[in-house]
Amino acid sequence: MSKRIDAIDLNVYYGSFLAVEGVNINIEPRSVTAFIGPSGCGKTTFLRTINRMHEVLPGARAEGQLLLDGEDIYESGVDPVTVRTMIGMVFQRPNPFPTMSIRDNILAGYRLNGTRMSKSKADEIVERSLKGANLWKEVKDRLDKPGSGLSGGQQQRLCIARTIAVEPDVILMDEPCSALDPISTLAIEDLINELKDDYTVVIVTHNMQQAARVADKTAFFNIAGTGKPGKLIEYDETNVIFNNPANKQTEDYVSGRFG
Ligand SMILES: Nc1ncnc2c1ncn2[C@@H]1O[C@H](COP(=O)(O)OP(=O)(O)OP(=O)(O)O)[C@@H](O)[C@H]1O
Ligand SMILES: [Mg+2]
Repeated sequence: MSKRIDAIDLNVYYGSFLAVEGVNINIEPRSVTAFIGPSGCGKTTFLRTINRMHEVLPGARAEGQLLLDGEDIYESGVDPVTVRTMIGMVFQRPNPFPTMSIRDNILAGYRLNGTRMSKSKADEIVERSLKGANLWKEVKDRLDKPGSGLSGGQQQRLCIARTIAVEPDVILMDEPCSALDPISTLAIEDLINELKDDYTVVIVTHNMQQAARVADKTAFFNIAGTGKPGKLIEYDETNVIFNNPANKQTEDYVSGRFG
């Protein structure tokens, strides 16, 4: 169910401010792609256009095309809510619904859609999703306890389980490990490696080692200065970006000579 993503001449605005300019990128299904670059270069902004989350802010909009297996998600008549079920998102801080049980967190996407299902079907989804997020063994005896009672790393895996529960095609992650300890970070990285068997995964990270460990391809974004738009500077196999980049800006950034 993993799908291909193609951005074509994508410009992203906050009101009249052009935050990201002219992105062209092709992201293969069943792969992990990392977005790297300095703070403010538009990684989050671009990521949020991939599932039409960007436009929920007043005045925020995108121009250009964003194709999911060839279909433009910005075409008129496309329902952004449907897009967001096909393209799930995991955020920087784990954000399980605090008053909901672990089980209800997993089923939240279905409940929001008003989907009715049998208890056995619900049990099946909960178990499959938690197994898929490598969390099942740790929580199977406490499914009715609140999600907020888990550790930070477990909460982030719960959020990933909640995302995969609705069987998306793409999973977007915005610095998913930045609030986690090294052990939990490795658990999430292992999980990302497994997720690419079934999904297209895009991850924003400030951790170069993480990009090198998890990503097949890496996209380097940069800004020329404050108030200027962020741009995609170079996109290639991860080992090329880190060991033999074509662009001087990429080389300076990955070798720590930035700024
Ligand atoms: N809600 C907003 N309204 C107006 N401008 C915004 C908004 N959010 C972000 N921006 C601007 O858009 C540009 C890109 O920001 P973005 O958050 O995408 O950067 P980033 O690469 O994710 O940075 P970081 O690494 O710090 O997370 C910045 O100039 C930022 O100030
Ligand atoms: Mg960001």
